[in-house]
Amino acid sequence: MNGIKIRGTGRGVPEQTVCNAEIAGRVDTSDEWITSRTGIRLRHHSREGESFLSMTASAARRALENAGVGPEEIGACIVATLSADTLVPSAACLLQRELGLPEDILCFDLNAACSGFLFALHTMECLLNAAPRKYGLIVGAEQLSRLINWEDRGTCILFGDGAGAAVVESREGFPTISAVMGCHGNDALLHVPGAETGGRSLISMEGTKVFKFAVEAVPWCIRQVLDKAGKTMDDVDFFVLHQANARIMDLAVRRCRIPPEKCYQNIGEYGNTSAASIPLVLSELHEQGKIGPGSRVLAVGFGGGLTWGGCLIEFA
Ligand code: ACO
Repeated sequence: MNGIKIRGTGRGVPEQTVCNAEIAGRVDTSDEWITSRTGIRLRHHSREGESFLSMTASAARRALENAGVGPEEIGACIVATLSADTLVPSAACLLQRELGLPEDILCFDLNAACSGFLFALHTMECLLNAAPRKYGLIVGAEQLSRLINWEDRGTCILFGDGAGAAVVESREGFPTISAVMGCHGNDALLHVPGAETGGRSLISMEGTKVFKFAVEAVPWCIRQVLDKAGKTMDDVDFFVLHQANARIMDLAVRRCRIPPEKCYQNIGEYGNTSAASIPLVLSELHEQGKIGPGSRVLAVGFGGGLTWGGCLIEFA
């Protein structure tokens, strides 16, 4: 099977930022509590009328441009999300029209909550082996501000909006991403209702239990991916962990003895953007020149479902 490498990245983020003090003006919390318990200082929230599609398309356009790949060269498109504008059509189908992607390809949405981008990378690696063209477009995008329960101070402080995209290339001789993924059905720890309610869908979460699950899952995924790839910690240039809580990342850094400078965090400026969080980090690292051709990134995601996953991805 051919492996994949990332050729280009991009992001699209709403302009409006909401700081902790503004949240504290709305619910019973404080900047001090939010910063010390989560590491979050700001999050981006879309303004009224700003669509999911425009944010997603802007990330995708930047990734295509960054990769030097035209829309006509794309062989499959996946949007990882739980908060698209519509259930049908999928965000990926609307993106096909918006960008002028070819019509003879698979375009679909994938929901694995915060692990979505990694599930999509793994799916794309498999798909491109049978696709009409060798490039794949993956976007992780969320407008979680629409799903926030402002009555729940334990969750309303956490979530933000954003989109991160990657263009990947499949080629014979490229290493596989050594994906390790898993799921465990659980609707008690993390829940966003769908058609069942007939009303608004709002996020509910048992934060402390999800926290405990995450601090076990992250080191486990790191070990499994390294074993599968036959690599060691020293072979990895950056560790990119789902940006759910700075304390989860700090614990993983200590437990796995990751040099702290190799674990990039941007949760302070974005909050938890679920499926967008990993590609947002990738696009910042790429833009800053911290990763480039030949770099190896070990990415780990975890979240609602429950879902978890990790992979080792190289840059072309
Ligand atoms: N401001 C002030 N006090 C608060 C706030 C707040 N915003 N929220 C909760 N508290 C209080 C609680 O009421 C509680 O008070 P009590 O002791 O008097 O009862 C106390 O703070 C501790 O509450 P906990 O919920 O235990 O706080 P915790 O330290 O666990 O932090 C948090 C909560 C930040 C949500 C944390 O549990 C977390 O980050 N969990 C993981 C989230 C995650 O990883 N999600 C994954 C993916 S999300 C997805 O898939 C969509």
